[in-house]
Amino acid sequence: MAQVGFEPRVLELTDGTRVHVRPIVPEDEPLLIEAVAAMSERTVYFRFFSPLKRLPDALAHRLAVVDYNDRFALVATTHKPGSRERIVGVARYDRAAKTDVAETAVAVIDEFQRRGLGSALLAILAKVARDQGIKTFTLIVLPENQQMLGLLRKMGWIHHAKLTGGVYEISFDLPEQS
Ligand SMILES: CC(C)(COP(=O)(O)OP(=O)(O)OC[C@H]1O[C@@H](n2cnc3c(N)ncnc32)[C@H](O)[C@@H]1OP(=O)(O)O)[C@@H](O)C(=O)NCCC(=O)NCCS
Repeated sequence: MAQVGFEPRVLELTDGTRVHVRPIVPEDEPLLIEAVAAMSERTVYFRFFSPLKRLPDALAHRLAVVDYNDRFALVATTHKPGSRERIVGVARYDRAAKTDVAETAVAVIDEFQRRGLGSALLAILAKVARDQGIKTFTLIVLPENQQMLGLLRKMGWIHHAKLTGGVYEISFDLPEQS
């Protein structure tokens, strides 16, 4: 299991659904492919900036294999009795080499959107990142991605937003640990 001070936990969404949140593991590679397959074209495009029909194996592998320090990802999963675990949301960061700045990305499958999962994952990720010495998150958001812009606004996390080449480059300083 991941060598990181993160205890897997159960998260209750705003509609009462419970999901499990844990660090990603290499065995999640096929589950990531299934999660992307469960996303609408729009969700995939907002996350990957490309109309992927299927998450390519090499990319799934890169996303599933992290070092838990410079590259880290949390997954939210559901596990219905008698069926396989399913990834319903992912939040990750990727540190710019030897800095305290990391690029972040989050995605929630459409069926689970608007239940507080994306914001909860990002808030938990921010705490993990802080513990790993990261002070600032950056991310790229398409201007038409009102859901992500709305989420960041709601969390009070848009500190700097710059429109460059048709995308917003956003950065925000992570809240101090309480
Ligand atoms: C952005 C995304 C992660 C949000 O996940 P989510 O689980 O639906 O978000 P939450 O339920 O935590 O929403 C938190 C707040 O964000 C805002 N928000 C979320 N979806 C919204 C929408 N469709 N329209 C407007 N505001 C929205 C709201 O303020 C919401 O709070 P509220 O529901 O109390 O009004 C999800 O829409 C997604 O996966 N989008 C595609 C991938 C992506 O755009 N990633 C960002 C770039 S890496």
